[in-house]
Amino acid sequence: MNILRKTWCRTYQGAFHIAQPLLPYKDPVVKNSINDIPEILRTNNINKVVFVTDKGLVAAGLAKRIEDVLSSAGISFTTYSDTVPNPTIENVEAVREIYKSANAQGFISLGGGSAMDCAKAAAARIAKPNKQIPKMRGILKVHKKLPLIIAIPTTAGTGSEATVTTVITDSKKNYKYPISDFCLIPPYAIHDYTLTTGLPQKMTSTTGMDALTHAVEAYIGRSLNKTSAANAEEATMLIHKYLYRAYTNGNDAEARQNMLRASFCAGLAFSMSYVGYIHAVAHSLGGKYGTPHGLANSILMPIILREYGECVYPKLARLARKSGVIAEGHSDEETAKLFIDWIQEMNDKMNIPRVIDDIREEDIPEMAAYADAEANPTYPVPRLMDKKELERLYYLGKTGNAEN
Ligand SMILES: NC(=O)c1ccc[n+]([C@@H]2O[C@H](COP(=O)([O-])OP(=O)(O)OC[C@H]3O[C@@H](n4cnc5c(N)ncnc54)[C@H](O)[C@@H]3O)[C@@H](O)[C@H]2O)c1
Ligand SMILES: [Fe+2]
Repeated sequence: MNILRKTWCRTYQGAFHIAQPLLPYKDPVVKNSINDIPEILRTNNINKVVFVTDKGLVAAGLAKRIEDVLSSAGISFTTYSDTVPNPTIENVEAVREIYKSANAQGFISLGGGSAMDCAKAAAARIAKPNKQIPKMRGILKVHKKLPLIIAIPTTAGTGSEATVTTVITDSKKNYKYPISDFCLIPPYAIHDYTLTTGLPQKMTSTTGMDALTHAVEAYIGRSLNKTSAANAEEATMLIHKYLYRAYTNGNDAEARQNMLRASFCAGLAFSMSYVGYIHAVAHSLGGKYGTPHGLANSILMPIILREYGECVYPKLARLARKSGVIAEGHSDEETAKLFIDWIQEMNDKMNIPRVIDDIREEDIPEMAAYADAEANPTYPVPRLMDKKELERLYYLGKTGNAEN
C-alpha cells in the first residue's frame, strides 16, 4: 500500500481508537433458558413478535421449541424460516414486510449468525424505512434505536447476539458486506446450551474456529483495549479448553455452554476492536461462492497469520500465554509460531480442509477489491495491504501455504 493511503488508514483508525471510551457500547442482558423469553417480552410490554429462523432449525425441531414457549405464554408471533446461510437483502425485506403487516413490536431470532443477522438487519430497516440495506454498508449508517431483539444463538460461533454487526449479501452482485452500528447490539441474548447439542460436528468445528478468528483478529489489531483484550483472552482460553470436547461429544453440556460463552466474549472483543483481513476475505468468498463463513475463516486463519509474519508475533505470543494455550518459557516468535501450529492442529483433527476449493483465479481481482473496500481504512490490521497485496491471500487460500 502506498504511503499516502497508509497514512490515511492509520489516521482514521487512530481517531476511532481515541474515541473508543466515549462510544456507546452496551452488552446484551444474557439469560440461560428459552423459558425466560415471556418475562423479557412482558417487561418490555410486547405481545406480538416476528420470529426469524431458518429451515435447518425447523427440521431440527428447535424452532418448534421457541414457538411452544411463545404459544404457552399467549404471545402472538409470525414465523419466518426462509433465512439462507449468508442471508440476503431479499430475506431482510421479507422479514420487514411480515413485521409491518403483522404490526409486530419486536423480533426473536433463533439460529446461527444467518438468522440473527437477518433479524438485526430487518430491525434496522424498520427503524430506517427510507434507507435501503446497501446504503447501510459500513459503519455508523443506521444510527437509530431499533425495535427489541432477543437473539438466540444455536451455533457458537458468530457471537452476533453480542455484536455491533450484521453481515448481509447482495445476491444480485454476489457481494457480501458488514453493516456495523451500536444500535445493532441486541439488548437480550439467550445462551441455552440445549439448543446446540444437536449441532453437527462440521458446524461445531467451523463455527468454533470462527469465534477464535474473532478473538485473534481483535487481539492482533491496533485498537485493542483492556476490555477487548480480556474478552479475547477468555474466549481463546475457553475455545482451547472446550471446542474439541464439544466436537467429540456434542452432548457435553459443560463444553456446549462454555462454547456459547466463548463465542459471546469473542463477539464482544471484535465489536470493540474489529476483525481484519481474514474476515474481509471470508466475506468476499461467502458473497461470491456461498462459502460457509466459519469454514473460510478456519482455513484462512493459519495461512494469513503466517503471511503477516513477525509483526504479529508479540501480540499472538501474549494471547497464547494469557489464554494458556502455550506455556511460558519460549520467545515471542516461538510462542506465536506454536500458537499458529495449534490452530492448524485443531483444524486438522476436526477434519477442516487446508485449502478453499471454491476459489477461481479469474474471480480473485474482484474479490480482493471487495475485501479492500471492506477492510481499508476501517480495520486496524497489524500490516496494511492494498488490493494487489490482498490478491496473494486468495492464492494462498487456494493452494495452502507452503509452510503448512
Ligand atoms: N453479526 C456478526 O457479528 C457476525 C459475526 C460472524 C459471522 N457472521 C455471519 O453469520 C453467518 C454464519 O453464521 P453461522 O456460522 O452461525 O451459520 P448459519 O447461521 O449460516 O447456519 C448454518 C447452518 O447450520 C444450521 N444450524 C444452526 N444451528 C443448528 C443446530 N443447533 N442444529 C442443527 N443445525 C443448525 C442452520 O440451519 C444452517 O443450515 C455468516 O453470514 C457470517 O458472515 C456474523
Ligand atoms: Fe466471523
